[in-house]
Amino acid sequence: MRRFDLFALLLPLVAGLMPGSLAFGNISHKCNASTFSFPSILGAELIDLTADAVHNYSRTALLPGTDLAEHPTVSFCNVTVSYSHIGWGDTINVSVWIPLQGWNERMLGLGGGGFSASFGSLYQTAAVAKGFVAIGTDSGHEAGLQASTDPSFWMVNAPGNLNTNLVEDWASKTLGELSTIGKKAVRDFFNQGPSYSYFTGCSGGGRQGLELAQAFPTAFDGILAAAPATYIETFLLSGYYPTLLMDDLNSYPAPCEIQAFTQAAVNHCDELDGLKDGIISNSSACQFNANDLVGEAFSCNEMESTFSETGAKIVQAAWDGPHNSEASWPGVSFDADLSASAVTTECNDSNNNCTSASGESLFGVAIKNLILANPGYDLEELTADEFYRLLALASAKFRQWVGAANPQLLRFHQAGGKLITWHGGADEVIPTKGSAHYYETVLAQNADVTDFFRHFEAPGVGHCAAGAGPMPNSALEQLMNWVENGVAPETLDAYSLTTGMQRPLCPYPSEQVYDGGNVSAVESFICVPK
Ligand SMILES: *[C@@H]1O[C@H](CO)[C@@H](O)[C@H](O)[C@H]1NC(C)=O
Ligand SMILES: *[C@@H]1O[C@H](CO)[C@@H](O)[C@H](O)[C@H]1NC(C)=O
Ligand SMILES: *[C@@H]1O[C@H](CO)[C@@H](O)[C@H](O)[C@H]1NC(C)=O
Ligand SMILES: *[C@@H]1O[C@H](CO)[C@@H](O)[C@H](O)[C@H]1NC(C)=O
Ligand SMILES: *[C@@H]1O[C@H](CO)[C@@H](O)[C@H](O)[C@H]1NC(C)=O
Ligand SMILES: *[C@@H]1O[C@H](CO)[C@@H](O)[C@H](O)[C@H]1NC(C)=O
Ligand SMILES: *[C@@H]1O[C@H](CO)[C@@H](O)[C@H](O)[C@H]1NC(C)=O
Ligand SMILES: *[C@@H]1O[C@H](CO)[C@@H](O)[C@H](O)[C@H]1NC(C)=O
Ligand SMILES: *[C@@H]1O[C@H](CO)[C@@H](O)[C@H](O)[C@H]1NC(C)=O
Repeated sequence: MRRFDLFALLLPLVAGLMPGSLAFGNISHKCNASTFSFPSILGAELIDLTADAVHNYSRTALLPGTDLAEHPTVSFCNVTVSYSHIGWGDTINVSVWIPLQGWNERMLGLGGGGFSASFGSLYQTAAVAKGFVAIGTDSGHEAGLQASTDPSFWMVNAPGNLNTNLVEDWASKTLGELSTIGKKAVRDFFNQGPSYSYFTGCSGGGRQGLELAQAFPTAFDGILAAAPATYIETFLLSGYYPTLLMDDLNSYPAPCEIQAFTQAAVNHCDELDGLKDGIISNSSACQFNANDLVGEAFSCNEMESTFSETGAKIVQAAWDGPHNSEASWPGVSFDADLSASAVTTECNDSNNNCTSASGESLFGVAIKNLILANPGYDLEELTADEFYRLLALASAKFRQWVGAANPQLLRFHQAGGKLITWHGGADEVIPTKGSAHYYETVLAQNADVTDFFRHFEAPGVGHCAAGAGPMPNSALEQLMNWVENGVAPETLDAYSLTTGMQRPLCPYPSEQVYDGGNVSAVESFICVPK
């Protein structure tokens, strides 16, 4: 009896040293609904809970804000928790994927993008492959990439009537609940909570990350928010500004003319950081006026032409952002691919007779649904006056509600939380300057901001990925090292899968400067104050 007891005592200790499933024994038999119960959440009630083991699941997957796609094979306990807020008429589905082998004792929340609260298996598969319990919520409406740009099927009950419950679920409420439900499922399954919990997301998912730090400061220990839609209520409008101007001028420049403007700006500012590499790194010193190009020749895509005056106005509007006598709102960077987002036009073969392709874009759809609660609104009727009225309305009505711009992070800091944001310098969807601005507002509240929050710009990187610049693909590992070992990131490690170049991303407000040597090597760059 004595010997047996000793064994029983030692076995978990020995097993704990071993990697993989051994540490938690053969656990797949625990993957059934009776293992799990719904946590206590004020005002919420369980609708349904399912749990089934999924073996050898395989798909192409990556983590948010990375471009490292993999094709892992994973086995996990697929837990789906459906619940409702009493009296709200909503159904929220939370997905918890628990690895059946090799749990790393951590939980990772995965954000979505656009108006989708999660991208499901795309991100969760990658997270499980790294050993995390992977969690996501649909916030009460359809999730996934497809639904990310079109909220018309859930956001408006009837023309004029916003579905305020579902907007609140998406904006904030379900995000804290995601953490609560995820942690409970981990405890139910492993008889211990996660040692650390993290959240990562890009774009709309980055906004979710910031909202978590602001409104649910103990939900996650570390948050990685890439290209966050912090000021979502206004950038959705300012993104539509160039289209408004195109309609006003009745002029729709061909995509290759737009791209030629961008190329000219890159050529002009590329070397300000000491290196001609097709990447603008010294963005604060980059000054360029599209009007200076008018009349000059350009050629692209079998088009030989000269830069037009209206083209220059439209491109400059995208860079400057909207502004009136009362306020201004940031535009996108000089090296952002305007033709992919802010100034989208379609032409026929001859590069002539182009028309706007922005009406059904993220921006147009957002104005109709979120701002106006009127999916049938004809955007061609939008006047400049009305546009500026909506911008003011959006700031007043939606910033506190759906934005994630509250600079007060005291409780997150006190809870020991760590926050990393990064934003592509060439982001074509969400103005890079918005993330810098948010960081400044937090800094103004807290001189010790770098103790718990660091922001990095990624020169030449587009929205969440793409572009000429190297990507901070290991930012999550650096965040974990900060949370778990106290090693704060001095720079983010970035590299380009296409060119192999390695660069340090500098903590804002410092900027990356070429210091001589191998242009692909990380040692050749230093960070200097602005
Ligand atoms: C683990 O448990 C499952 C279900 O109870 C069983 O089918 C499987 O054979 C077990 N695996 C091992 C390695 O014991
Ligand atoms: C369900 O999981 C529990 C452990 O939580 C286990 O005791 C039970 O045998 C499992 N039921 C089935 C049908 O596998
Ligand atoms: C999963 O794949 C492994 C390796 O190919 C195989 O041994 C195992 O039987 C598979 N499991 C199931 C449930 O298909
Ligand atoms: C996980 O379970 C949910 C709910 O039963 C189901 O809809 C989904 O397809 C499952 N996912 C996988 C990968 O099996
Ligand atoms: C959420 O889960 C319920 C089942 O509980 C299902 O009927 C519903 O379609 C799911 N919702 C979404 C948006 O997938
Ligand atoms: C950026 O360019 C300006 C103007 O050439 C220069 O004064 C400044 O030192 C540059 N800054 C960096 C970080 O390269
Ligand atoms: C070009 O577009 C115009 C108007 O949209 C159309 O009438 C014309 O047929 C198009 N030409 C070609 C070659 O597609
Ligand atoms: C553009 O389309 C119109 C018809 O919509 C046509 O009359 C005109 O010739 C076209 N112009 C060019 C340059 O293709
Ligand atoms: C330059 O640095 C890159 C990345 O570290 C490396 O792969 C390459 O071999 C280096 N080139 C030379 C000439 O040293």
